[in-house]
Amino acid sequence: MKTIHDFISLKPFSREELEAIMDLAETFEDIARGKKQSNLLAGKVLATLFYEPSTRTRLSFETAMLRLGGQVLSTVDAFRTSSAWKGESIADTVRTVQNYADAIVIRHPERGAAEVAAKYADVPVFNGGDDANEHPTQGILDLLTIRRERGTIDGLTIAMIGDNKHCRSNYSVADALAHYNARLILVNPPELSMRPEAVELVRSKGHLTVEETSDLPAALKQADVMYIVRVQKERYADPAEYERAKGLYKVDRAMLEAAGRPITVLHPMPRVDELAEDVDDYPGACYFRESFNGVLIRMALLSLVLGKAQLP
Ligand code: NCD
Repeated sequence: MKTIHDFISLKPFSREELEAIMDLAETFEDIARGKKQSNLLAGKVLATLFYEPSTRTRLSFETAMLRLGGQVLSTVDAFRTSSAWKGESIADTVRTVQNYADAIVIRHPERGAAEVAAKYADVPVFNGGDDANEHPTQGILDLLTIRRERGTIDGLTIAMIGDNKHCRSNYSVADALAHYNARLILVNPPELSMRPEAVELVRSKGHLTVEETSDLPAALKQADVMYIVRVQKERYADPAEYERAKGLYKVDRAMLEAAGRPITVLHPMPRVDELAEDVDDYPGACYFRESFNGVLIRMALLSLVLGKAQLP
């Protein structure tokens, strides 16, 4: 098994490695819930550099660190509040921040920003989301959520609904699912298709079947799991294009019930209007548990990169 230094993408990981990370994550349950204390990461400091807004990713990284006895330094709205405002490059920022922290999480609107940070920083770097490219910690926490909710991933049909073109978490979820003998139905209008080269890479692993449709009710009739995301407003250069895309796919409880099968409902959040609030008490709705699973995954990854846990 490899040791993990940076966590920029799920692509380099095998199924066995992803499963070992998820197994480790589940050992942190009581600590994540505050039922048990831990000093595993005492003396370690995590810096979060967020150039884009975040609720779950940043706060779950921070609570993961704090509940494991570590400490955090946070930059939010970093284009305005860090030296990026004065024109400092990512390369210079991370070579500075590594003097203050043992690991860095970066979220940035440029594709490849986390890779640049990892190239220049000696300390481990996590990709907390780069543009519409990848969001690997989200991808593996969603894989864990499916595994916890359904007990398995092989054999499932997953309908991925909405802005499949721009939502970075969808790319990372697809990278994770690529190792499983499952079926992914991409549900989107043709103009919001996932980048073809990303789909090809997923298919090339030879396990996951990937299909695309714009027929949402038909996809729901076959789905065991649904993964729905908001239309990513900030990725549209043309506001009129966003207005056209928004509201194309909305799911409510009646639609889920019309599918006539129990569907596990994931959403990386935030939700805008694509998922009705009447789904919240639908038995398969698990998006708030999903955000808890993010703490488990980030605890596992922090312990691994900081040398306090090992993959088997
Ligand atoms: C996602 C993101 O930022 O990519 N959110 C998250 O991290 N949970 C999805 C989104 O913003 O829609």
